[in-house]
Amino acid sequence: MSRNRTEGKSARPDAMPLRTTLAATALALGASVPSLAPAADVMKGGQLYSVHCAACHGRNGISVVPNAPSFGRGERMMQPDMALLASVRSGRNAMPGFLGMLSDREILDVIAYLRTLR
Ligand code: HEC
Repeated sequence: MSRNRTEGKSARPDAMPLRTTLAATALALGASVPSLAPAADVMKGGQLYSVHCAACHGRNGISVVPNAPSFGRGERMMQPDMALLASVRSGRNAMPGFLGMLSDREILDVIAYLRTLR
């Protein structure tokens, strides 16, 4: 009993500074690394869309090639962002993968833009 209490007391002073350090690190990273920014950038997503996606999915989200979904009609959009991200990242049938061309952050920006097309 008394041994446990001693361990409990000695553990606490160690845990606090660690937690504080982690919080400070997270704050510093969040402030300096754009990829950790919480909100998607729809404007940037729109620009990336016109460069990388509009050739197939259409400038206004009405697809211009066979089998490509029309996001302007909400096609395929009933999926979570992470599922759409996975498809765009690795490609799907006639669609090439964008891994190495666009970062996850950029693809999520594009997905946020897709959700505005409806
Ligand atoms: C070469 C033409 C082409 C380009 C360029 C293209 N796509 Fe596609 N995309 C397709 C086709 C075709 C499909 C349908 C694939 C299937 O499910 O058979 C598709 C499907 C999708 C889907 C649905 C995936 C799913 O899981 O249902 C999303 C989301 C998508 N594209 C987003 C994008 C984004 C974002 C870009 C630009 C970064 C892009 N596409 C560029 C042709 C293209």
